[in-house]
Amino acid sequence: MSLSRRSLLTAAAVRPLVALQKDLVYMNAANIAPCGKEALAEYLKQLNDFQQNPAFQNREVYKTLSESVRARLAKLLGAAPEEIALTRNSSESNNLIAQGLRLQAGDEILITAHNHPSNTQSWQLRARQSGATVVTAEVPVFAKSPDELWATLAKKVTPKTRVIAVSHFTNTTGLLYPIAAIADLAHKQNAWCHVDGAQSFGWMNLDLPKLKIDSFSGSFHKWPMGPLESGMLFVRAARLDELTPAILSVDYWSDKPTGARKFETLGQRDDPKLRGLEKTIEFLETTGMAQIEARALALSTRLRNGVAGVPGAKLKGSGEVAVSGPVVKVDFPGQNLATIYDRLWTKHRIAIAKTDAGDAAGLRFSPHIYNTESEIDQVLRALKG
Ligand SMILES: Cc1ncc(COP(=O)(O)O)c(C=O)c1O
Repeated sequence: MSLSRRSLLTAAAVRPLVALQKDLVYMNAANIAPCGKEALAEYLKQLNDFQQNPAFQNREVYKTLSESVRARLAKLLGAAPEEIALTRNSSESNNLIAQGLRLQAGDEILITAHNHPSNTQSWQLRARQSGATVVTAEVPVFAKSPDELWATLAKKVTPKTRVIAVSHFTNTTGLLYPIAAIADLAHKQNAWCHVDGAQSFGWMNLDLPKLKIDSFSGSFHKWPMGPLESGMLFVRAARLDELTPAILSVDYWSDKPTGARKFETLGQRDDPKLRGLEKTIEFLETTGMAQIEARALALSTRLRNGVAGVPGAKLKGSGEVAVSGPVVKVDFPGQNLATIYDRLWTKHRIAIAKTDAGDAAGLRFSPHIYNTESEIDQVLRALKG
């Protein structure tokens, strides 16, 4: 079953499409979103077929399946199939970029203090290997405008900057970076702009060429509601030749993988999962990314507005629409976060994430399209005691 564009307008239509337990209030899509029931069923069916008959003849189907999945994903993101690699997750994709670029002593890699470790530590290793330096821009957690975010990066750019690597939307406090402007900044220096899209892929209506970036990572098991351990990497066609694959193996489908395919020659893969990806992409296509984005933003806005009325709660971020999205971070200064986090789980079965300390400290709520308005209200009541 998939949704027509109109039926998405009610959360009640989406909820039955995922297998979440009825009494579970799950608001942690920024970590893992439940896989759509249909995608999971199709994946398991295909896996059974594979295991019952692993003969080469029965695996012919995957050659065309991987190409049709690539083409549909490319279309969804406004990209060309040649620019898409099917990876295992965003961490792998971030590392492929960090390891793949040619860097040398004296080069600078500009990141932010709120990059995910896979987009920080991978660059630190690369710097150690190449003699380059990692430069870290601070994150103005309460930024009111995209310009403010841009400026923190702009002031760290030097003639030595060779890479700017940032999160599109941060997992830490939910800040939406102005990517096209950051890509312009990078390109003025002839630098590479890598965007970690783990927190934007799947809820945002994306057109990657419009972002002007050189590479972009995503995970299907987060916002797109796809199967576990499935990711993607986009590399702009014009810059593909500048990247060397970090993992080499027998080319599974052909002797000469072309375009971004050269980043997915990892030996034997879980090919039946492609069927799950196909269904996941079909769901995103038929539902429409604009609808998904609107719904995710409506739910998070309801939550953010409600939190403003919770005694002792302090929202992270300015809440300004241009720099916000469906990750809502709430701090309780002077209170024990772990106690509140545990109470939400044990008393109310509300599943979220938390950061204990630092400028991202707080409880993280990441509602998605399977959540209902009444679940948002339930969370707000639970936060009050
Ligand atoms: C911004 C960001 N990048 C990368 C990752 C890593 O994602 P994965 O574990 O799917 O590789 C995460 C995970 O939460 C993330 O938030």
